[in-house]
Amino acid sequence: MKDVYILGIETSCDETSISIVKNGCEDVYTCVLTQMDTHAKFGGVVPEIASRMHTENITMVLDDVLTKSNITWDMIDAIAVTYAPGLLGSLLVGLEFAKTLALIHNKPLIAVNHTAGHIYANQLVEPIIYPSLGLAISGGHTELLLLKGDYDFEVLGKTLDDAVGECFDKIARILGLSYPGGPNVERLASNGKPTYDLPKPMNDDSLNFSFSGLKSYIINFVHNETQRGNEINKADLAASFIEVVSDELARKVRLAIERYNAKNLIVAGGVSASKPIREKLTRLCEELGVKICIPPIKYCTDNATMIAAAAYPLYKMGRFAEFNINAKSQEEIF
Ligand code: KG4
Ligand code: ZN
Repeated sequence: MKDVYILGIETSCDETSISIVKNGCEDVYTCVLTQMDTHAKFGGVVPEIASRMHTENITMVLDDVLTKSNITWDMIDAIAVTYAPGLLGSLLVGLEFAKTLALIHNKPLIAVNHTAGHIYANQLVEPIIYPSLGLAISGGHTELLLLKGDYDFEVLGKTLDDAVGECFDKIARILGLSYPGGPNVERLASNGKPTYDLPKPMNDDSLNFSFSGLKSYIINFVHNETQRGNEINKADLAASFIEVVSDELARKVRLAIERYNAKNLIVAGGVSASKPIREKLTRLCEELGVKICIPPIKYCTDNATMIAAAAYPLYKMGRFAEFNINAKSQEEIF
């Protein structure tokens, strides 16, 4: 069979990324240009700056990919792009760029949901086994999914309030750490111990999540202690926060594994870059005899490789996008 090369584009937040992926699983070449340092000055992503920077950088990123990959336009079978969810202005830069490339080079256009992209990042490691449980944990998502087949996903549970990554970012801010919060909280926590007794997020047996109570508790605690002039051991507080979050994720994953008699777990999204969370979920799966797949860190955070990988099953199904497709800031995974 002829090899399929898909060029993927990802601009949903603060990474301008383009990648070429062969047969949905082989990363031929990927360029990720992050705007992290710029947004760090403001304590979070500034949407207007993000879209402007995508506009400035996207042609350079494409140039880099075409030069370094040794792939020519006649070899590319389709153009894939993230169209939802994300920052609207940022998504539009990638989407219009993708449409233009598809029109100029006469290639089909494939529209990819960003969360599906995170799930299919696992395809870059090994073929996804169906059925699998999926845990999508990012700045915008906290979902437990039943992956029944390609693009046949059922949401089993989700966050009732904040996404887990959002929580990491808010806790980072109150601890005086810069954006992006997750890796900085993890770094600080590595020098601490989980000595603080924090409230457990949800004492129930549903498959939903709730982290806003924990977040508010920590924010109030830090404010109150600071006002009273009491010293806080920030490293210990960060370690305690990570322990509660990872325990809760593992508790819900255990419930889902038992309830659905799952044999495989796939972890996806930026928060799956967290070493303590990776370790806790790996130990849980070892204990339960479940096969776990977590992408390497570079495929956990936003990248176009996962978008091109997620486009491959759509390519095979012939699910191409119309040229009047619009970007959407919100979209349920399916
Ligand atoms: O998937 P992602 O790159 O973007 C979204 O689709 O949201 O995820 C970004 C989120 C941020 O909230 C960031 O703080 C978090 O992932 N994150 C982490 C780590 N690395 C990134 N959270 C905890 N530990 C990490 N090491
Ligand atoms: Zn993401």
